[in-house]
Amino acid sequence: MTQEALAVEDGAPAPITGGAATEEHAVPAARAAETILWVDGITVSFDGFRALDDLSLTLEKGELRCIIGPNGAGKTTLMDVITGKTRPDSGRVELVPSHTELTRLSEFEIARLGIGRKFQRPTVFQGHSVFENLELASRGGKGVLRTLFGRLKGPERGRIDEVLQLIGLPEQRDRRAGLLSHGHKQWLEIGMLLVQDPKVLLLDEPIAGMSHQEAERTAELVKTLAGERTVVVVEHDMEFVRQIARKVTVLHEGSVLCEGTMDKVQADPRVIEVYLGT
Ligand SMILES: Nc1ncnc2c1ncn2[C@@H]1O[C@H](COP(=O)(O)OP(=O)(O)OP(=O)(O)O)[C@@H](O)[C@H]1O
Ligand SMILES: [Mg+2]
Repeated sequence: MTQEALAVEDGAPAPITGGAATEEHAVPAARAAETILWVDGITVSFDGFRALDDLSLTLEKGELRCIIGPNGAGKTTLMDVITGKTRPDSGRVELVPSHTELTRLSEFEIARLGIGRKFQRPTVFQGHSVFENLELASRGGKGVLRTLFGRLKGPERGRIDEVLQLIGLPEQRDRRAGLLSHGHKQWLEIGMLLVQDPKVLLLDEPIAGMSHQEAERTAELVKTLAGERTVVVVEHDMEFVRQIARKVTVLHEGSVLCEGTMDKVQADPRVIEVYLGT
């Protein structure tokens, strides 16, 4: 059923009608096949200060992208724009298969289109079990009481069990979330996004406050999650970034300074000067 739904959606800009291709700002054809998100010329100003300055980048379907850069470079602001928390002064963010322009939509609408975002501080329901937290998340806006007392459908239960395995918490299933370690809460929150089956997962500083061991397991988790979905990780911990990095984007003063493999960005004198050298 999921595959069917995907097929319909991927086929949305049907070549015969060609509706999307006539769009003024259509994605360049050479990139269109793989691109899932196209950030095009985004500028965000706060009282005249440009937090993002004509920023453009593209994300590919299933890729694992790391975004690094000094404090204040605009990394979190970029996530705020993609998820609709901040409206840019100019520029576009396009979800590619459907050519949906995200900067016009609400946070809720963007989340419903399959863009999940994890904030730095975990926001799990402390008084509920791990399983209940996942159940609440998977049912979205259907109300806490109905969720807790309603009967779970088989496939839904199966999906939650799958996610429990993925985030490494099957043994904590019935534990109150408030009793979990900080790292486990972070994984639970990632799980709460996963049950909603996002196409794009945005993780802002996912290992902040974690032990070394938890960070290593998070690296494994993040690598597992990419492929089936696009994962974007903002992180200052270079050891972690090195463990997971494929393509790395370096932001500086609201624009892309450099992009490429970890080896490439680490060797770039501009990156060393503004970030890595310190
Ligand atoms: N709501 C806001 N009002 C005013 N200035 C803001 C606001 N949000 C962000 N800024 C400013 O925009 C710039 C970019 O901030 P942002 O949080 O995106 O940086 P960052 O790259 O995530 O930094 P860090 O690595 O410290 O998390 C900073 O100078 C910040 O002070
Ligand atoms: Mg930030």
